[in-house]
Formats: sequence, structure tokens, C-alpha cells
Amino acid sequence: LQLVGKYIQPETREVNGVLMTKIMSDNWDKIWNFQAKPDDLLIASYAKSGTTWTQEIVDMIQNDGDVQKCQRANTFDRHPFIEWTLPPPLNSGLDLASKMPSPRTLKTHLPAQLLPPSFWKENSKIIYVARNPKDCLVSYYHFSRMTKMMPDPGSWEEYIESFKTGKVLWGSWYNHVKGWWDAKDKHRILYLFYEDMKEDPKREIQKILKFLEKEMPEEVLNKILYHTSFDVMKQNPMANYTTLPTILMDQSISPFMRKGMPGDWKNYFTVAQNEEFDKDYQKKMAGSTLTFRTEI
Ligand code: A3P
Repeated sequence: LQLVGKYIQPETREVNGVLMTKIMSDNWDKIWNFQAKPDDLLIASYAKSGTTWTQEIVDMIQNDGDVQKCQRANTFDRHPFIEWTLPPPLNSGLDLASKMPSPRTLKTHLPAQLLPPSFWKENSKIIYVARNPKDCLVSYYHFSRMTKMMPDPGSWEEYIESFKTGKVLWGSWYNHVKGWWDAKDKHRILYLFYEDMKEDPKREIQKILKFLEKEMPEEVLNKILYHTSFDVMKQNPMANYTTLPTILMDQSISPFMRKGMPGDWKNYFTVAQNEEFDKDYQKKMAGSTLTFRTEI
């Protein structure tokens, strides 16, 4: 119970201006000094941008479309989430990563400026996935309601403000997507968009294949397409987080595989909220070449 107490609706604290859980911030030295390896593959994203989807695609590619192998463990045990710190004896991301044989595939939500520098030094490959802010916000809001491992989102109105001002875990969405967008010009980063994946998943899987320097027969590619579709992943207990106890994620409040559709934000934003959001967005994204589609 004491363990659970530290874990449920955790205290938060900033690390270099970016909000994290207190337990992550207490562990920050270890996270920052994480030793990446040249053959690590890192899947990076802002929360709720299609991380789990990308993880499933990558795992299916690495296992040549073998569904059974991809069901060997939960998403979160297949790919250590490096900064995610849990009270012992639970496995933190760093513990899982250190026990995992190479080549490893890892996950992070850290903004580029807080990525452990060994990833840059070792030139590990990185796949970044970004999602338009309105759908990301809606997804993050519902996720924050159902998971007890994150701060309570408050009301919808309050949450829009928290998101816009970056007062949510992993900080500002705007700085996150821009920071990684700039990083891709200097490092081996494949920068993907959730909306592109939804529009033409085959094309995007082919981009990942090329980035991973792999080829595969059309039939395997089609199998991967099928098994990483929203409807199939929603039914896959090794991908949909339903193996976690209700005390950590209450999927009756909102399922992890919730909607999986670009444009769902229209069901939540009022006209006024949308206008204000757009105005603020223009300010925060001014000068960047990065653009998003809020529907497809
Ligand atoms: P919604 O809440 O909008 O449905 P992450 O994995 O980064 O936490 O992102 C979760 C979001 O990705 C959720 O969005 C989830 O439904 C969506 N998602 C997961 N798997 C998907 C898939 N195969 N196709 C489309 N969306 C998917």
C-alpha cells in the first residue's frame, strides 16, 4: 500500500523547467547518465502521439511479422521506458533497460534537450512520432483521467490551459515537437506524423523499414499492417495496457485504445476554445517550418 501510495496521483516537480513526477526528478542523475549503445533504437514522442502504435509496428518488423513473438510480453516490458521511475521493487525503465540484451528498443517522452547525451554520442537511431496538438490534448486529457499514475487533469477547461502552458508531465508540447524537429537535422532521426500513419500506414511502415535498413515480402508487410491496425491492437492484451490493475489504469473511465482518429478534437473544443487555441498556437510555433494536419 505504501508503494501504491507513492505511485498513485504522484507529486510532480520540474527538471530544467519540464514537469516530471517527483520520483523521476529524484532519479534524474541516473536518467541523465543513462548509457545508450550504438545499436539501440529509441522511439521518442510527446505523450499520446502514437507511441504504442509505433512500438508495435517496430516490434513486428524486428520479429518479421511473427505475431506470437510480439505477444511475448506487454508493450511496456518489451520496450523499456527509460525515464519512467517506479518505487522499488517494481521495475523502472532504467532497470529493465540494463537487463535487456542488445539490440534494445527503448521508449522515451523526454524533450530533445533532456535526452541523455549518450544517445547523441553513440549515434543511436531514433524514431520520433508527432501528433497534432488538438488531438494530442484530447487524448492526454482522457488518459490523465483514467490513469492514476499521473496528476489529475482537472476540468476540460483547466486542462486546455495546463496543456497550452506546458504544465503537464513532459512539459510543453510546442517545445517538444520543435526541439525534436530541429534535432533531426543533426542526428539520425526518422520524424513521423500520426496523421500520415493513419492516412497511409503502408507508406509509413515502408519509411520505418528503410530507416531500419530492412526489407520484407509484401505478404509480411500486409500482415504487419493488419496486426497494427487500431481495431486489432485494441483487442491485443499485450498492446492495450489491460493487463495493468484498475488501480493504475481504469479503462472503464476511458480505454487506452480510445478512438484512434484524427479530428476527434472537434467533439471537445468549443468554437471559442478553438479560436483561442489557434491564436496561441501561431505565437508558439512562429518561425518553425513544422506543420501539422488537424484532420485527414
Ligand atoms: P486516442 O486517445 O486519440 O484514441 P500513446 O501510445 O503515445 O500513448 O498514444 C495513444 C494514442 O494512440 C491513443 O489515441 C490511442 O488510441 C492511439 N493509438 C494506439 N494504437 C493505435 C493504432 N493502431 N492506430 C491508431 N491509433 C492508435
